Amino acid sequence: MKCSRDFAILEIRAKPPYFPMRSFFIRDIEIDPPLILSPMAGVTDYTFRRLIKRRGGVGLVVSEFISVEGLTRNNPKSKRQMRFDEEERPFAVQIFGGRPERMAMGAEMAQEVGADILDVNCGCPAPKVVKNGGGSGLLREPKLLETILKEIKKTITIPLTLKLRTGYTESTINVVDVAKMAEQCGVEHIQVHGRTRDQGYKGLANWEIIRQVKEAVSIPVSGNGDITTIEYGLQKWRGSGVDGILIGRGAMQNPWIFRQFEDVLAGREPYQPDVAEKKDVLLEFFAMCREEMPEIVALGKMKQLAGQFTKGLVGGAQFRQTLYHSHSAEEILDNIQTYFDTLEHRSAFGDGVVEADADLEFTSCEAPELIETASV
Ligand SMILES: Cc1cc2nc3c(=O)[nH]c(=O)nc-3n(C[C@H](O)[C@H](O)[C@H](O)COP(=O)(O)O)c2cc1C
Repeated sequence: MKCSRDFAILEIRAKPPYFPMRSFFIRDIEIDPPLILSPMAGVTDYTFRRLIKRRGGVGLVVSEFISVEGLTRNNPKSKRQMRFDEEERPFAVQIFGGRPERMAMGAEMAQEVGADILDVNCGCPAPKVVKNGGGSGLLREPKLLETILKEIKKTITIPLTLKLRTGYTESTINVVDVAKMAEQCGVEHIQVHGRTRDQGYKGLANWEIIRQVKEAVSIPVSGNGDITTIEYGLQKWRGSGVDGILIGRGAMQNPWIFRQFEDVLAGREPYQPDVAEKKDVLLEFFAMCREEMPEIVALGKMKQLAGQFTKGLVGGAQFRQTLYHSHSAEEILDNIQTYFDTLEHRSAFGDGVVEADADLEFTSCEAPELIETASV
């Protein structure tokens, strides 16, 4: 039995490339390839970003969103979230908050630690973020957002970028106007997740609105939402005419998705990792986590990634059950070994059933409790 993701790739392989891949520039920073690892709180930390970057095909990585209230009050967690490695460049730090002077201070701190780009979060729907005027709350207050952008521009010299949702509610979609205002303020790249704040993660991202943003401004625009296969990504990319795309959840399910995209856009066969490589990527991640964080947090991170990574794989549900009930690194390593051995020998793991994925929704910009508390 094959996993459904492989089928999608095979279909693409039979067709010629749709258009040549072109990098784009955020001022003098080349985004090459024009594929961005979308920021995800509790996921795209120092460890995960390097894991994905090493698979290839990623033109830009972004930190998790970082609270400027935490940063400017010397919260150790916020400071730690700005940590990055040279191998990650170009690297953007994303900040959130609702107070102009704090946002400017946070932006300056990001520049001081050596970030290449400063990104402002204008999309997080979480109530505790919105309540304090940050994230997608700023879509309801474009004047405040304008003040924030102007204050930040006065403070930093690195490029300023913005990540937006389409609007706060379906009846107040305003991303085109917000993008035009941001361009006037000196923002140099707009990223649009094609959902409203009210939508959360329900339904599908609206790429038609993303296309309208692309047409309305002359700075680069990247689109985002629901790309988990090359075929869907190419369709949305071509239809919207954007300069680049961001992939979030799809990178957890398939860490090679960027490389496969790059291959297809360059007219090559998409890279296909074998079972051994799939196992190795989980082991590499676990080893990196164990170096970086307390064991309990590393176990949580591993369960989180493995849960997404084995989505749709034969016997994945049974494998996850064994992982969720693993309480030590040794147990996890044993279970990974056993699961991938069975996959390699094409034998069944558990009852060999491909499970429905409904239990694996992964849709929040609030960091999971375990990671949040244990890493402070
Ligand atoms: C767990 C989780 C955490 C997220 N955290 C952030 C964040 O910190 N900053 C941000 O701009 N977007 C955040 N997002 C939104 C993603 O960057 C992205 O816009 C969204 O998931 C849609 O893209 P996708 O369908 O490729 O995942 C988060 C999404 C998820 C699922």
